[in-house]
Amino acid sequence: MPDFREIPRHIAVIMDGNGRWAKERGLPRREGHRAGAESVREVTETCIELGVEYLTLFAFSSENWNRPQAEVKALMNLLDRFLAEKAKELDKQKIRLLAIGQLERLPAKTRALLDKIIARTADHTAMTLVLALSYGGREEIVAAARSLAADAAAGTLTPADIDATLFASRLQSAGIPDPDLLIRTSGEMRVSNFLLWQISYAEIVIVKKFWPDFRRKDLTEAVQEYQRRHRRFGAL
Ligand code: FPP
Repeated sequence: MPDFREIPRHIAVIMDGNGRWAKERGLPRREGHRAGAESVREVTETCIELGVEYLTLFAFSSENWNRPQAEVKALMNLLDRFLAEKAKELDKQKIRLLAIGQLERLPAKTRALLDKIIARTADHTAMTLVLALSYGGREEIVAAARSLAADAAAGTLTPADIDATLFASRLQSAGIPDPDLLIRTSGEMRVSNFLLWQISYAEIVIVKKFWPDFRRKDLTEAVQEYQRRHRRFGAL
């Protein structure tokens, strides 16, 4: 069991390997995503049990729009289903839902569903689930820079006013603490344009398993790994 006194406040996850999981079984990629959605359910539940305050999931990247149309559609359908099914549960478990990314690029139906659940769960405090959708870290940073530049051009701030705190307040993640632990599945050692600003000090745990195989026990082990490193760091 992990030490419940040192649970990471914010865990961010790059859910990688759905396609390879399906390929290994001779299944279409969408079956990998479907199985991956089960891992999302289990990992969310486990985070609540552990007392994690924020869980951010990289559910769809800005680059994912370039995948075959059928796969994009399958992913959007899965997301719609997840949101529709999860709405009640989120409410019951007092989970607040947030989303970051270029949400205006999502299909109108998905966007409407997302907005509705975000509004409905806005006051919940048990945990915050952040879905990164149509998300790209560089795009987020560019948008923040543009917003500051617009203020500077309008004369409401000067370049000297810009510091890390002001910059972070213009990111989509404003108000969300930085992740303490970043988990990536399927063994890849890449950040892939995820939360580039926010992971500056995060511990990174790479897990070999494909995302659909990543379940309760794997999350607990990743937290234990985080705690081992965290303690060593704290002792220095
Ligand atoms: C990476 O696997 C995963 C994704 C592109 C999307 C993640 C989506 C889900 C887990 C399901 C739906 C999400 C929610 C929130 C219900 P990949 O396709 O890149 O795998 P590969 O690298 O093996 O090809």
